[in-house]
Amino acid sequence: MRSPLISPAVPAAPASADRLLPPLQPRVPEQHVTPWLAVVLVVVLFSGGLFGYDQGVISGALHGIKRTFSLSPLLIEVVTSWVTLGALIGALVSGELADRMGRKRTVLIAGAMFTVGALVQALAPDTLVLVAGRLIIGAGVGVAAVAAPLYAAELAPSALRGRFVSAYQLAITIGIFLAYLIDAWLSKTDSWRIMLGAAAVPGVLLFLVALVAPQSPRWLMMVGRKADAAAELARVRPGVNVQSHLGSIEKTLRDEGHKASWREVFDRQWRRPLLIGVGLAVFQQITGINAIIYYADQIFASAGFVTQTSQTTVTTWAIGAVNVLATLIAIAYIDRLGRRKLLLTGLVGMAASLVTVGIAFEFIKAASAGTAAASGPTIPGIVTLCALVCFIICFAFSMGPVVWTVINEIFPGHIRGRAVAIATAVNWGAAFLVSQFFLTVIGTIGNSLTFWLFALFCVVAWVWIYFRVPETKGQSLEQIQQLWLAKT
Ligand code: BGC
Repeated sequence: MRSPLISPAVPAAPASADRLLPPLQPRVPEQHVTPWLAVVLVVVLFSGGLFGYDQGVISGALHGIKRTFSLSPLLIEVVTSWVTLGALIGALVSGELADRMGRKRTVLIAGAMFTVGALVQALAPDTLVLVAGRLIIGAGVGVAAVAAPLYAAELAPSALRGRFVSAYQLAITIGIFLAYLIDAWLSKTDSWRIMLGAAAVPGVLLFLVALVAPQSPRWLMMVGRKADAAAELARVRPGVNVQSHLGSIEKTLRDEGHKASWREVFDRQWRRPLLIGVGLAVFQQITGINAIIYYADQIFASAGFVTQTSQTTVTTWAIGAVNVLATLIAIAYIDRLGRRKLLLTGLVGMAASLVTVGIAFEFIKAASAGTAAASGPTIPGIVTLCALVCFIICFAFSMGPVVWTVINEIFPGHIRGRAVAIATAVNWGAAFLVSQFFLTVIGTIGNSLTFWLFALFCVVAWVWIYFRVPETKGQSLEQIQQLWLAKT
């Protein structure tokens, strides 16, 4: 990496800069993370981590829950999927909360919801209470999924914005990986209450860190608290030219007029960024990521990994750990190479991997029709494993982090909260549909065609991004807004 992400010490101001800045404000280069920006980063990491953990943990917890409450198939689906439903509702409410109460307080609320939801699930005496807990924690996921990246995008200097929002994605992947690990570790004892309740610990920590975290100066300006905005900006980014920075936010707010109603979010003027945000949210899901995250075990089982242990091990390391590591590529390159290059390159790799998985499954089908079931992974099974690892790597440096970054930077301030909420809710809706119907689609058209369908969506996404999504690297949020105004 060209610049360190965390800079513990503030470097001395160069002599020439002293003349331009107020005294006692050492100059901090745009790429440096000051201690207060590091606090913002911690808020983002906890929010994303809880998102990932709550998404990943249920597969392992379900066995024990089924045994404790002897659930009907319908209730199993409800227990599994109502987190997504809660997240969808939480995301929609979160935009409003983030605009009314501020980004920081909204994250506080999310922290409280994570904690309460985790405890309700862990202590649930019956299915009804368990489902209520799933809904509460889901709402926390949705609220945090909107508020935390928005908060990061508004506080980070433009040169670091991509990395800050990508850190959110990194945290999601760490959360999923930890959930896989904890599930594997506790699987023999069926301790589903601990698996689900463990989220209370980071929930409390998120709440505590958010308590001391700074407010978003952009939001403070939105609600007319200019003095607070100046103080917060000087604290978070010492050395920044406070007056000119606030002047630019003020100008944008003046140009925008007032805070938009829901109707205005859908106004013609903002149709282009809204379509880009929603389009990216949908493509992130229909290109297959969660089909693989949720059903990796089953995919590996059909590819010849016969024992439960081999499936869990492969899923944990080949999917979970690789997802974390490959996200680091995005953090290193998103602000250097730009959003478009990462998206377009990643989609080519994702499509190629999915086509390969489809071909491998044709061989697996042919082999299983001819002979008795293999006693271990076959060559097509190993090819499937390698292709899925390749898919995860390509997703993790492109459609994962870049989609969240772009969604959080393209909207003008007065509609940002609501528009990000819409894109996030659509993302959850698409995730719900894909995970709900993946097995049915496989049952109807078979493994190979299902993976080729995902590959086709990658191609469509590539073409659409090539023609529709502009590069936003290195531009301030104000400059990005000018992009849309210039086009209308
Ligand atoms: C997506 C999640 C997905 C995760 C996998 C995120 O960007 O929104 O749906 O599970 O990436 O790493």
